[in-house]
Amino acid sequence: MPYKVLVIPGDGVGPEVVEAALYVIKAAASKYGVDLEIKTAEAGDAALRKYGTAMPPEALKLADEADVIFKGPIGESAYDVTSLIRMRYLLYANIRPVKNLPGVPAVKEIDCIFVRENVEDVYVGAEYRVGDVAIALKVITEKGTRRVARVARKYAEMRGRRVTIIHKANVLRVVDAFFRDVAMEELRGLEVDQMYVDAAAMELVRNPKRFDVVLTTNQYGDILTDLAAQVAGGIGLAPSGNIGDSKAMFEPVHGAAFDIAGKGIANPIATILSAAMMFEWMGRKDVANAIIVAVEKSIEKGIKTPDIGGDKSTIEVGKFIASII
Ligand code: IPM
Ligand code: MN
Repeated sequence: MPYKVLVIPGDGVGPEVVEAALYVIKAAASKYGVDLEIKTAEAGDAALRKYGTAMPPEALKLADEADVIFKGPIGESAYDVTSLIRMRYLLYANIRPVKNLPGVPAVKEIDCIFVRENVEDVYVGAEYRVGDVAIALKVITEKGTRRVARVARKYAEMRGRRVTIIHKANVLRVVDAFFRDVAMEELRGLEVDQMYVDAAAMELVRNPKRFDVVLTTNQYGDILTDLAAQVAGGIGLAPSGNIGDSKAMFEPVHGAAFDIAGKGIANPIATILSAAMMFEWMGRKDVANAIIVAVEKSIEKGIKTPDIGGDKSTIEVGKFIASII
């Protein structure tokens, strides 16, 4: 049975980086014998203009049928597509590894993995405007915290290292304290510490090596993973996986970057490394590793986009990596 992969190219630089990654995905699948059935769906700003909805019924149907979704960044309607997919399929853990790549200038040395809760917090979309007051609800549940903490536990056990829980329980004395306490309980027996999110932002720049597995709530995870990606060498390199119990979605951490769209200069590595994560999720760590090695080789050989000091185009990088896989 093939894996049913739904590709959503997205907006801005999305179609370019996804096209580049597809060269790699197809080359890897054929070389390593992974049976993929790839379909494509329109979703995002362009779909909104064309069909009046960012996630048209056809895209939804294909997403329902797929085993896994491979998605580029989306523009203004990103929340409508990305959060919808995360919530509809209960992709409750957002896995964001942050690691330097050899030969890429970085702010600091860093090697950690963020486990970001992915379906709760202010992302539930419970916002209200009552006259001159606006309110957003931050929702944290015991069940939601336990299941994402179990994912952090798995990574900590795999890496044999510490989990840092990030929160702001000194202000959110009920909500964030609940997340922290439930997570602590679920992580019992492991080496665990905790940090306020503001201090964590500082530490990620000052001493990023102190972090290993980082467990945090949805919004803090959103913000800190952009910061951490920049510390590691740039947002153009940062992959992610949205994982549930039976389905998953892989996508770069970065956004649609309309300012450079269509110029062929967007770095496809974040998307290509997201493809590596997809193969790992399929149980093919060998294929994931082969992609990572090919990415490192392409950088070493100078086949890289301008953001990391090269002069190659998005597609040239994708094709090169595909050719040496
Ligand atoms: C991310 C993105 C999304 C988020 C947006 C596009 C809804 O920034 O995946 O980090 O905030 O989660
Ligand atoms: Mn984000």
